[in-house]
Amino acid sequence: MSVFLRVLAIFALVFIVFQIIPYKGKSNPPINKKLEIKAPEKVVKIMKTSCYDCHSFETKWPWWSHVAPASWSIIDDVVEGRKALNFNIWNSYTKSQKEKLKKEIYRTVAGPMPLPQYVLLHKNARLSKKEIMAIRNWASNGKGFIKTTVR
Ligand code: HEC
Repeated sequence: MSVFLRVLAIFALVFIVFQIIPYKGKSNPPINKKLEIKAPEKVVKIMKTSCYDCHSFETKWPWWSHVAPASWSIIDDVVEGRKALNFNIWNSYTKSQKEKLKKEIYRTVAGPMPLPQYVLLHKNARLSKKEIMAIRNWASNGKGFIKTTVR
């Protein structure tokens, strides 16, 4: 066997082994509608399009999320995203948690959220200026502005 074929065979083997390695987190737990966020329809629509894949139990798992090693980083994003903020369990947060999260939402929609690698593959998730303003207006309880400290 040529060196090239040997290397190819090793890669194929490693790839197959990757698929067998168990990796937890790819599930959509049942939802309790009572706990779901209530916000103006326009704002909820933006959240569903741009945030829900990582910040809810209603993740739409694309086909590449089933193929390791890509799946590992996607699953990590969803697991960590749900931990940080989950719109499906919004009403289980305390008042102060909600206010803190709103501040974080206000801050992150103009920067790191939704994650850039996600937006690359989900073009419709990119937030327009108008959408950012709509979310920020909601997050600031209609004030339109919150002072946030940039990290
Ligand atoms: C591709 C997955 C993904 C998408 C889509 C996404 N997020 Fe996140 N988000 C994460 C991850 C992962 C974390 C936790 C890790 C971190 O703190 O960076 C996070 C954390 C957050 C936090 C907590 C603050 C922070 O900096 O940790 C907020 C608020 C947030 N996201 C808001 C949003 C909003 C609003 C949207 C939609 C406009 C959104 N995210 C879309 C993955 C995502």
